[in-house]
Amino acid sequence: MNQRNTLKINRLGHLEIGGCDTTELARQFGTPLYVFDEAYIRQMMNVYKKSLKDNYDGNGIVLYASKAFSCLAVYAIANSEGIGVDVVSGGELYTALKAGFPADKIYMHGNNKTPEELEFAIESGVGVIVVDSYLEADRLNDLCAKKGIKQNVLLRINPGVEAHTHAYVQTATPDSKFGFSIANGTAEDITKYVLSKSNLALKGFHCHIGSQIFEKQSFVLAADKMMDFIALIKKETGFEAEILNIGGGFGIYYTDEDPKLTESDYYNYLKALCDEIKAKAKALKVREPFIALEPGRSIVGEAGITLYTAGAIKEIPGLRTYIAIDGGMFDNPRYALYQSKYTVVAADNMNAPCTQKITLAGKCCESGDIIAVDVPMPEVKSGDLVAVLSTGAYNYSMASNYNRNFIPQAVLVKDGKAETIIKKQTFEDLVRNDVIPERLK
Ligand code: LLP
Repeated sequence: MNQRNTLKINRLGHLEIGGCDTTELARQFGTPLYVFDEAYIRQMMNVYKKSLKDNYDGNGIVLYASKAFSCLAVYAIANSEGIGVDVVSGGELYTALKAGFPADKIYMHGNNKTPEELEFAIESGVGVIVVDSYLEADRLNDLCAKKGIKQNVLLRINPGVEAHTHAYVQTATPDSKFGFSIANGTAEDITKYVLSKSNLALKGFHCHIGSQIFEKQSFVLAADKMMDFIALIKKETGFEAEILNIGGGFGIYYTDEDPKLTESDYYNYLKALCDEIKAKAKALKVREPFIALEPGRSIVGEAGITLYTAGAIKEIPGLRTYIAIDGGMFDNPRYALYQSKYTVVAADNMNAPCTQKITLAGKCCESGDIIAVDVPMPEVKSGDLVAVLSTGAYNYSMASNYNRNFIPQAVLVKDGKAETIIKKQTFEDLVRNDVIPERLK
């Protein structure tokens, strides 16, 4: 059903993932349930690894952007594949280290890292910190001076390429909270500033142009501008970047409005980037930089599905049919935030024809608590199993305990076996950090 054969319909007409019948998973673990296919995650990590190896002599590193899905198990998988990770908070860094991830293969991001996060990062020996403000350059330099360390850093640069899902444009006005703009000269200024800091070892530059992007040309254009910038800095200062980190952003399939990319499509996205960087290096007479790449969504997005049990069904004549599920915006806030679209299926009745349009609603006290609007479905009764596909990225990682609902359990499936990777929450978990002041008792 999807591109890497993780999803199938079995002979009982049930949805199967990683060799596991979803009705069995629901029976064993309950719903709502996040399910992740390990083979899929590994395949995607390998596509990028292979493309770097084939098209750039392996002179680079794949960093899994763990903001897409962060938990101990996913760092363990990334580590066993020999790739690096990108973390964006003390919490992600802690989780990676706790999973035994080697600190030198961790790149630390964030546009406003706290002093505590910076200290934690340097004390842990994080490989590279991506600096995104003057304040941070100062704080980091002072901290490193106190500890007698020289920290490897990159600078976050805004190349002025705004990427949309279905188009790309060059922006004249570099209005972003991230990075320093090449166009208005601030990128050059911060570079000179960081070069003057004795405890910061500037290694190169980073950019990230957006997420859920399908146009190869957007990435190529960004790489092109970054290489021009590298050449400009070399000319102006004599500093020649060793590392070019080109961020993440490769799109995935959610619904039929999106292209279905094959492994070779992702391979070729990266190949196009590598080719551009090589050609530009030659033309501009700068060294071919070590490339870092930060895919998040494309590694875990289609690897994950969420299983729900249908509850109350409400038909509003002439208007809409709502199917309420035992989950909602607390496990998947993406419709509420971005009006994101999803494919919804009747996991226990996959061969039934779609005879209606339904709106999948959550159980929170909020009308905007929706997962999908007016999507095709077969007849569904209360108690039936519903699956939402492509929920592996930015679902669990953006989940909350809104309305004091539980963040669902997550299982990892492989060769027909399922193992818990994130345990079920309990009522006790919900009040664990609550305190009643003495005077209120
Ligand atoms: N690197 C940097 C510096 C980033 O900011 C991001 C994503 C990535 C890599 C990974 O991008 P990916 O390959 O996953 O597209 N919550 C939103 C997505 C926010 C993405 C933020 N940055 C969503 O649910 O669509």
